[in-house]
Amino acid sequence: MAQNRRQWLAQSGLALAGLSLWGKQSLAKEFGNNNHSSYRLPGNIIKLSSNENPYGPSPKARMAMAEAVALSNRYPWDTTTVLREKIASINQLKKENVLIGAGSSEILGLVAQLAALEKGNAVAADPTFRIWWTAAEKSGLEILKVPLSADKKHDLQAMLSRMNSQTRLIYLCNPNNPTGTVVDSNLLKSFIEEVSSKCLVLLDEAYIEYCGESSLCSMVSSNKKLVVAKTFSKIYGMAGARIGYALAHPDLIQQLNKLQPWENAGASAVSLAGAIASLDDNDFLMKSKKLNEEAKQFTIAELSKLRLPSIPSHTNFLYFSLKNYTGDYLQRMAANNIIAGRLVEPGDQWYRITIGTLDEMKHFISAIK
Ligand SMILES: Cc1ncc(COP(=O)(O)O)c(C=O)c1O
Repeated sequence: MAQNRRQWLAQSGLALAGLSLWGKQSLAKEFGNNNHSSYRLPGNIIKLSSNENPYGPSPKARMAMAEAVALSNRYPWDTTTVLREKIASINQLKKENVLIGAGSSEILGLVAQLAALEKGNAVAADPTFRIWWTAAEKSGLEILKVPLSADKKHDLQAMLSRMNSQTRLIYLCNPNNPTGTVVDSNLLKSFIEEVSSKCLVLLDEAYIEYCGESSLCSMVSSNKKLVVAKTFSKIYGMAGARIGYALAHPDLIQQLNKLQPWENAGASAVSLAGAIASLDDNDFLMKSKKLNEEAKQFTIAELSKLRLPSIPSHTNFLYFSLKNYTGDYLQRMAANNIIAGRLVEPGDQWYRITIGTLDEMKHFISAIK
């Protein structure tokens, strides 16, 4: 019975067939025409602060999620397995290599807790994505921060030198949030091979689909110390659905599962359905990437006309400096209904801004002028 239901879920693309033609056409038209008004926040607020995809969820994911609402009276165990199998097959791995969480932040927290079972320290770049720092510190890990290089990239050599016999975890965010920089995948691979003989390695690939570098997740089939964290919150446009996953060796997945209140059970029937469908919507991914690139190039060019330098970005956000700026940036953003990114490095006034739609970025540029 369970198998039949699972097959049905897999084959049906999660009940796309049940949707009316009207629903399909209107969603397709909306995305095709670049009319993203329905994704706008109330009150004409433009949110450029959390690196969300302004075009998502994909039409297929939205339809699957709408349909899955009706299945929400049942625990979605079979659907969880369908998603794990699908993720595994896309990455030439097994479902035992996949752990599902309510967003990849859950994964980051679990890895921090696992590393902290033995007290010590965690090495991380600075600045980087730090939501897991609190979980790590509460569990007894000291964070050893290693400044990025002058071009705002991970300084792998400095990270290696900072490690000591107490190091339990090293965190690598590639591409890095908030700077948008990437480390070449061959370099990163050799680095991971070296450090994983000493401690756990957490590789966060939340934005990998936006950049040209390939994922290093194939390493997990042989490396027992590497966890690759992935999310549906970014290019898949499902931040509000709260679903992400870890890829790791089955032994490591089992250790992480033990730290979950209920293994793989954090994601809802609705988010699972959206995640499965979105993996089949490559058109949406390609389109999101293209539109992001156009809006990003526009923003970079306009900022540079204003003599505001930015770091080449491989993501859907931009790290730029307001060192030469004389206006009151935050006041101008607020006056123009823009929720802007935060100040990260006060010294040279480095800010991060999310790339929204081209219209939103035009609004941002006219506000900053
Ligand atoms: C680098 C990075 N990793 C992980 C996350 C967490 O994403 P989520 O919990 O929505 O999957 C984010 C969110 O901004 C992020 O920037």
